[in-house]
Amino acid sequence: MKEKVYLKFEELFGKEGEIKTYFAPGRVNLIGEHTDYNGGHVFPCALTMGTYAVARKRNDNKLRFYSINFEKLGVLESTIDELKYNKEENWINYPKGMIWAMKEEGFNINTGFDIVYYGTIPNGAGLSSSASIEVLTGFVLKDLFNLNVDMVKLALLGQKAENKYVGVNCGIMDQFVIANGKKDCAIFLDTANLEFEYAPVKLKEEKIVIMNTNKKRGLGDSKYNERRAECEEALKELQTKLNIKSLGELTEEEFEKNKHLIKDKNRKKRAKHAVYENQRTIKAVEALKENKIEELGKLMIASHNSLRDDYEVTGKELDTLVDESLKQEGIIGARMTGAGFGGCAVSIVKSDKVENFIKNVGKAYKDKIGYEASFYTVEIGDGPQII
Ligand code: GLA
Repeated sequence: MKEKVYLKFEELFGKEGEIKTYFAPGRVNLIGEHTDYNGGHVFPCALTMGTYAVARKRNDNKLRFYSINFEKLGVLESTIDELKYNKEENWINYPKGMIWAMKEEGFNINTGFDIVYYGTIPNGAGLSSSASIEVLTGFVLKDLFNLNVDMVKLALLGQKAENKYVGVNCGIMDQFVIANGKKDCAIFLDTANLEFEYAPVKLKEEKIVIMNTNKKRGLGDSKYNERRAECEEALKELQTKLNIKSLGELTEEEFEKNKHLIKDKNRKKRAKHAVYENQRTIKAVEALKENKIEELGKLMIASHNSLRDDYEVTGKELDTLVDESLKQEGIIGARMTGAGFGGCAVSIVKSDKVENFIKNVGKAYKDKIGYEASFYTVEIGDGPQII
């Protein structure tokens, strides 16, 4: 992989000077969905699939970008002084957004650079290809310009690029886990204060299988921002009586006692999901620590049901993948992962049943939806690296 990107760089931009290769992972969230902008917990892990970059500093202010995933777009040029969102510029808004966020923060990025990217995570599929490019670009900048910035800060700047430059009001989960990922561990993160711990995921007899609906979608045109606004509104209604800063502070009982304060039926459902999902995430981490994998599976299924019925972010493609998964031998648990509205689902499956699982779910999905799903048996990997 590394060679492929390196050779492309040399072909496009020449062999001279100091050229370096970098990698940042994609991510999958095991549980804790739509909780990260509600002050709740999340439980994602970094993947060994991710984004590669080969880069070299320049002496002028020019930026030259190329992605092997978007060959038809060719080399896209800009400068470090022209950092404004432009829909037409397609994928380079993510790296440009990151450069913008870092410059805004006062980091001294005084020359341009040439860079070639190659992602092995499918684009726009809910495995955080965009956060991967953002954090990777930040990591490249840290190295090229010798910047004193830690990985938590890089994650926050990635989120800022997404919120303020690209215009998606995402939470901190994706950038955080990508920046801080650790092999064979999931990250139990409290998004209220960014305290986190690594929880080993010791699956001896099981595998994590990601199922891609292959339904095209983009977060920007999804209902993501709408859900976030609904939760904020519900919080305000609860705050008329409760002294809380976020929905993540509530237990299920406290929510039930006070839910009458939320006047709208849909808002009540959205807030219920945020509260219950946060508690499920806390329970899931406990279950995993005690090696109660079946219990983790049950919580994953409850998470999907809540995302389908109360948060209403699944859709027939994701529901079909999860329903069909739950019919298979060797299934421990399955749920949608990421923002929803298409994208991917994640399942835990007994290792010796994975082959049949993929065959059967794949066939049922094709029969019901009309096109193929994709499947990836994944490993949990480390955060950004120079390779
Ligand atoms: C997207 C966002 C995250 C998070 C998830 C839903 O991946 O980028 O911040 O909100 O959706 O859990």
